[in-house]
Amino acid sequence: MNALRQYSADALAEFEREARQRYEEYRAMGLSLNMARGKPAPEQLDMSDPLFDLTRADCGVKAADGTDCRNYGLLCGLDEMRSLFGEIMGADRDNVIACGCSSLNIMFDYISQCCTHGVDGGEPWLFCKDRKMIALVPGYDRHFKVAEHFGFDFVCVPMTKTGPDMDQLEEAVKDPSVKGMFCVPKYSNPDGCTFSEETVRRLASMKTAAADFRVIWDLAYTVHDLYDDDRDELANVFEIAKRYGTEDRFIAVASTSKITFAGAGISAVAASDANIAAIRKRMTTQIIGYDKINQLKHAYFYKNLDDIRAQMRRHAVFLRPKFETVLRTLDEELSGLGVAEWSKPKGGYFISLDVTTGSAKYVEELCRDCGVTLTPVGATWPRGKDPEDKNIRLAPSYPSVEEIGLAAKIIAVSVRLAACRALKENA
Ligand SMILES: Cc1ncc(COP(=O)(O)O)c(C=O)c1O
Repeated sequence: MNALRQYSADALAEFEREARQRYEEYRAMGLSLNMARGKPAPEQLDMSDPLFDLTRADCGVKAADGTDCRNYGLLCGLDEMRSLFGEIMGADRDNVIACGCSSLNIMFDYISQCCTHGVDGGEPWLFCKDRKMIALVPGYDRHFKVAEHFGFDFVCVPMTKTGPDMDQLEEAVKDPSVKGMFCVPKYSNPDGCTFSEETVRRLASMKTAAADFRVIWDLAYTVHDLYDDDRDELANVFEIAKRYGTEDRFIAVASTSKITFAGAGISAVAASDANIAAIRKRMTTQIIGYDKINQLKHAYFYKNLDDIRAQMRRHAVFLRPKFETVLRTLDEELSGLGVAEWSKPKGGYFISLDVTTGSAKYVEELCRDCGVTLTPVGATWPRGKDPEDKNIRLAPSYPSVEEIGLAAKIIAVSVRLAACRALKENA
């Protein structure tokens, strides 16, 4: 296909007429499809139903160290879970705390702690009047919302195929009021990219004006590979940071939300000795202990990283065709037209679609009128505002392959129509 902008006026009108006709045909179908949130599909959740069926007779009531899981105790969680997450996150067991059902909760608590009590005896972040966070864009809306909640302003740094634009990031952290950043270093949300080793090295070695600068290393998708024989590898941030003496900079989190049950699994935090001590100190006031019964049940099925990988291979059987359907459709419908670009992730839960500047909201509107709900346009930017109005996050995990096939076609036809409108407006 030729780039749309090279079409003659007549050819463009014909292209638009065809797109409009197809669009109206889809609209007449009265569909209701949701590509908005990255949730596991029911088939994936079914795989973890055996967790429900576990009884006292199966897993007993005691953790490996003899602790009765029905009672208080083990503030840092079961050793079994700490070891498992240590493997998942690349940290020693002693540097891991196994928590409750949400990694977002851990992140919120950590930022809250920095805001009210500071880092390592330093000034509480709330005292810094013009406090800022780096916002990697496009990024994850809930990360932005945590920072917004605590009154941070943002310095936006664009993502590239190898992670954040490190030149821009290194420049931004020269400002002492820039206190930290959230990132999803493997299969990032939404663009599915994995930080290169060079990016990890630069993040670990960069000079930050704020001595208490923190990176929330959100490993939400670290074992979520679509292809067993072609997966991205993420360098171990703690090993690299040790070389530069910056291991205190990184707070890693993960959870089994997209491994077992979403919002009802186990989460964990991994960090340096000093950071774990500070988090633990706060926790002693906050909670007597997380849900050890759920940890015990998870430990019954998942003894090591191999068990987790086996589960993720089962998930991938369902996820792969969904991603492939979207990518194939975008390719067939849009490649060569010069009106859209999209990521081709090897894992995670999202595809990031960039459409013609100024057109994303219109695409969202067209899709909505056709019964396809997308992640609200703008959600991938702080405060929900994409200044170029061009990024759309696609979440193909939840609907069936058939539904996704239809939704992807409707999205593609909407992108075509929006591109026609943009071309005519700019003619
Ligand atoms: C990048 C990222 N981090 C964290 C979460 C939430 O994880 P949890 O269920 O452990 O709170 C999500 C959920 O979509 C996510 O995409």
